[in-house]
Order: sequence, then structure tokens, then C-alpha cells
Amino acid sequence: MPSSEKPRSLERGVVTSSFPSALPDPTGLLDLDTRHVWHPFTQARTAPEPQVIVRGEGPYLYAADGTRLLDMVSSWWVNLHGHAHPAIAGAIARQAQELEHVIFAGFTHAPAVTLAARLAAELPGRLSRIFYSDNGSTAVEAALKIALQAGFNRGETRTRILAFEGGYHGDTFGAMSAGATSGFYAPFQDKLFQVDFVPYPATWAGDPEVEAKEWAALSALDALLGDDVAAIVLEPLVQGSAGIRMARPAYLDEVVRRVRAAGGLVIFDEVMTGFGRTGRLWAARHLSEAPDLMCLSKGITGGFLPLGVTAATEELYRAFGGDSFAQAFAHGHSYTANPLSCAAALASLDLTLSPETAANWERIGAAHERALPELSAHPHLERVRRCGTILAAEIRGAGEYGGNVSLELRQFFAARGLLLRPLGNVVYLLPPYVVTDEQLGQAYAAFLDAAQTFGRPG
Ligand SMILES: Cc1ncc(COP(=O)(O)O)c(C=O)c1O
Repeated sequence: MPSSEKPRSLERGVVTSSFPSALPDPTGLLDLDTRHVWHPFTQARTAPEPQVIVRGEGPYLYAADGTRLLDMVSSWWVNLHGHAHPAIAGAIARQAQELEHVIFAGFTHAPAVTLAARLAAELPGRLSRIFYSDNGSTAVEAALKIALQAGFNRGETRTRILAFEGGYHGDTFGAMSAGATSGFYAPFQDKLFQVDFVPYPATWAGDPEVEAKEWAALSALDALLGDDVAAIVLEPLVQGSAGIRMARPAYLDEVVRRVRAAGGLVIFDEVMTGFGRTGRLWAARHLSEAPDLMCLSKGITGGFLPLGVTAATEELYRAFGGDSFAQAFAHGHSYTANPLSCAAALASLDLTLSPETAANWERIGAAHERALPELSAHPHLERVRRCGTILAAEIRGAGEYGGNVSLELRQFFAARGLLLRPLGNVVYLLPPYVVTDEQLGQAYAAFLDAAQTFGRPG
């Protein structure tokens, strides 16, 4: 039986009911984990044992068995400034001693108001209203509902939603509907609402067909547009879960203009691309056009606590004003605008807007750029691409997206001290901004080794 298929033992270790303190006992913990924990996006029957992580510092995660992992995927794209950053940890601790939470209907508080005002000052276009929720999926869910209800409140009959093929927007039903072609939702297909999908002209360094793909995608969009379109939702510049697929800003600008000319709203899902991943604060800052709604989460708290934001224009907000509650946005979550999350987000925003972080975006981008020629020249790599701090390439002949090779690749990288989580044969780096050039060098070298080991020439 290949080691990746080894069933996790139910028999190991002593089961204790308290969490291990100073010296964690990985064996006991894994036993409890096997009995009681249901991990996300994991086939427990075939997945290797999860690794017990006891500490994080900078770009490193420290495991109970004494090993150290360089977190090159920012722990599912949430971490920005390194693990356990003292400024964010301190802000949460201070806030916890003042006010941990309060119902956000009928009440407000300084962390939520300050964060809303500071985000509004940085957001593109006329986005000035902040609706809080808990995560990326709920941020998208709220955006879709706002787009639909705004039309409903105005007496319009616009109900159709458009999205890009391959796009991923989260795992709640609205987000799944908008991500129906991402390949994750077979058991739910007949429960998803109708969304029309526009081809996504993914591109890479030296792609000779990019313009032809963009024109074809634009004419497919034209064929879908009509006076019943409420909105398009899209991941600007980089589709994340679809396999780090990149599109050009000029093309996206044209999409925005055409949807808007047809009277539809534009929703940017910047859950992954936000807070500097693309080398600017927002992917939207690479475009001339701005969205009507924007979704943020993941990096918003620097990776410390869950928080979702749906930013809207004042014009959209006004569509919900009226004499009756029926026009209000009847949507909310128990932990809406949690003060601890908002305090973490404010501390993270200070770090994000610092000159040091901007310099790090430049530095990481420049390092990726220097690595591109060698990666592009490797006969086993194809479609090498970069956007800001994100670098990706496909290992030729190593199976398609969704194949089993990603698990083997994960183990290959782990053996070299790297946390990398390829999406099928797509290997990508999406590091915390504190990663050093030397650490990036280690990742590029492992990338080339993996290509050599798993790939074959075209
Ligand atoms: C672009 C995008 N939107 C939405 C989501 C969903 O976010 P969450 O996992 O916080 O629900 C993700 C998660 O990967 C994402 O990448």
C-alpha cells in the first residue's frame, strides 16, 4: 500500500481530555484527531496524518516532532506579515480585555467603525459602505444578495448572475452557484441557482494566443449580456482555486465596461487577491475601472481571526433605504463585526500600509521575476506566470488539475521543509510578505527539483 494510503491508526497513544500544554504529545493528539476531527477538503481514508503544529513565527511553522516548515502558501492564503506577529497578537489581547463582542444590530463600536472608515479610504472607486460578515464565502454571499435585492427594491427584473468559468467563490450555496464550474460541487449541482459562465482567458509569460482568447471571451460575454443581468462576480487578475490562473487588467477593464453598459453590477471577489498579493493593495488597483461591490476576507486580519467584508457604493446602500423593514438588508451573522477580528484587522492594516510592506511586495515580485527565466526554460514546466507576489507554473505530464499528483508533490515539498499545496499539477508560491530572498531561493530550487522528478518534456 503506498504510504499516502496508509489508514490513520485508531489505536495509538493515550487519550486525554485536556489540551497538551508545554510539551505537546503528538501521538495522543493525533489519536484524538483521528477519532473526533473532520478536516476540510480532506479524504481522511487516504490522506496522510495531519501534522501537529505547535508554534508559528515569521514565515515558519514549527511541528510537534521538532521539524520546521516554511509556509509558502500563507496557510491557505490568509497570513500576510508572518505567523504570531506581535503587533496583531497585542491588539487582539488588548481588545479582548475591553470588549470581546457585542450584537451589531442596534449597537456599534470603535474597532468596527474605525476599520470601515479606514478601508473606505483605501478602497477603489466609490466603495464607501462596509458590510461585515465572517469569511470569504459569506462576503460573496452578501455581495450577491445585495446585488439582487438592490434591483428588487428598485422594482427591476434583473435576476441573472454571470461569473467566470473555473472561478471559486466559497462553499455556501450562493458562492457555490457562482463557482459551479470549479469542479467541487457535483453532489449539489441540482440545488445551485442558474449562473451563466464567461470563458476565462487564462494567460502566462510569453503566451502568443492571449489576445485571441480575450476577444473570444469578450464575444462570449456579449452573447450573455442582456437587460436581465443583475451582476457579474469575478476574481480580478488571479483565479485562485481554479489553479492560479491569471488574466490581463486591460481585458478585465473591458469586461467591467461591457457589463456596466448593459446595466449590470460588477462584484470583485478580492478574498484572495486583496491586501497586496498582486503587488498592489487591491488587484483593482491594476485596473482603470472600479467595481460596485468588493469582497474581502483571508488576509484582512493578517491571518489571525475570521472576518469578511462586503464593500458597496453609497448608491447601492441607498437602494435599501425606505420606510419599511422589507427594504432593509435582512442578512447578518452572530459574530458580525466581531471587535477582536476588527482590532486584528486594524493592526494588520497598519502593517500592510507601511513602507516596509510595500518594499516587500516589490522585493518578492523582483525575486520571482529573476526566477522566471530558469523556470520557463525548464523542459518539464509550462505556463509559468507571475502576478505581484504570486508565482505559478504547471508541471508538464504530471496529470491534470484535480489529479492525485498534488498529494505526492505536497509530501515531496514537505520533505524539503516547505509547506506548498499544489493544485493538481500547478505548483505556486503565495508567501507571507516577510519571506526572505534566501527562503524564496529555497522554494525556487525545490520547484525545479519537483519539475525534474515529476514532469516530462513536452
Ligand atoms: C477568491 C475566493 N473567494 C472566496 C473564498 C472563500 O473564502 P472562505 O474560505 O473564507 O469562505 C475563497 C477561498 O479560498 C477564495 O479564494
